[in-house]
Amino acid sequence: MSDSRICIALDFQTKQEVETFLNKFEGESLYVKVGMELFYGEGIEMIKMIKEMGHQIFLDLKLHDIPNTVKSAMKQLAKLDVDMVNVHASGSIAMMKAAMEGLNEGKVGNKRPLCIAVTCLTSLDQDVLEQELLIQKPLDQVVLQWATNARDAGLDGIVCSPLESKLIHDNLGSEFLTVTPGIRLASDSVNDQKRVTTPAMAREMTSSYIVVGRTITGASDPLATYKKVYQDFQGEN
Ligand code: C5P
Repeated sequence: MSDSRICIALDFQTKQEVETFLNKFEGESLYVKVGMELFYGEGIEMIKMIKEMGHQIFLDLKLHDIPNTVKSAMKQLAKLDVDMVNVHASGSIAMMKAAMEGLNEGKVGNKRPLCIAVTCLTSLDQDVLEQELLIQKPLDQVVLQWATNARDAGLDGIVCSPLESKLIHDNLGSEFLTVTPGIRLASDSVNDQKRVTTPAMAREMTSSYIVVGRTITGASDPLATYKKVYQDFQGEN
């Protein structure tokens, strides 16, 4: 029982913690997200370990640099045989196209990692856009424009809130992936996410993938909680 559209955020500091956590899922093939903290601390050996355990990896490093540098960096990441990577859409269409070129050059066999774009970080709000970045458009228009740029550059999708997922699919087509964090079970305490959605709500709101962190990693029984998330996302409750 596993669902490759449920991505568990491995927000741990060490390879040892990752190994202990993943050992609780013996026999399951998971999709996991490795972010900057873990990758900068434990690097490529840890990616290899997770692959050898049979899991898929979303390597969440959010690249943003000049196109040539992003292209070379993506070529290296593709060689790790990870399944999904990402960039900041604000780096421009040229940068996103370069990312795709790098992934195609570095891919292992025929399988290119999926590439998605971060649009506006949820830590930005309308005030920051207007006062610091001098962007005077409404935030949802900025998200849609940057998502459109990502689609035009040939990317596979974006990271967004489940609440934005339908807007994106209505405008850019249902094939364009929406990868959505901010997920909690109805029984959870909310932690620090401001707007949270249950897996069932995320499915109704057309999320392609859900990213679930502390709900599973912080649970006393992560496997049982993963199963609850799975059932809720499948609509089996
Ligand atoms: O523990 P939690 O389920 O809140 O973890 C969500 C994961 O998704 C974390 O790795 C977090 O950094 C990431 N994320 C997020 N909100 C965004 C973008 C990424 O929570 N807007």
